[in-house]
Amino acid sequence: MANVTFSSPDNLKKDVTVYAVAGDTKTLLSVAKAHKIPVEFECENGECGSCQVQVSVLSSKHPIGVAMTEKEKTVLKLAGKITAAHLAEAENTDTPAPWRLACQMILRDEDILVKF
Ligand code: FES
Repeated sequence: MANVTFSSPDNLKKDVTVYAVAGDTKTLLSVAKAHKIPVEFECENGECGSCQVQVSVLSSKHPIGVAMTEKEKTVLKLAGKITAAHLAEAENTDTPAPWRLACQMILRDEDILVKF
């Protein structure tokens, strides 16, 4: 199980925490849609960049490393959300990058805060 807390002062009256089953291959966007959390999206295919979210891990454990697709890296770099330095650090320390595409992010067994 993973607790996913969505935070968006512009779109939510207060933070909303939902429970998700880790590893069931659902994306963060599909979980948001299932709970009527208004994360923006268009293509749902990692191409438009409209579903950019800032993700941080809420537990004290070392965050689980993430292998982002080249498509996701490219979209987030073009949007100015991550830099080559962010990516190099994430890969060197096996930690997730601070921004993700909700339509590409698969939930893991860790509690996260999602800002959008
Ligand atoms: S909805 Fe287009 S990149 Fe996620």
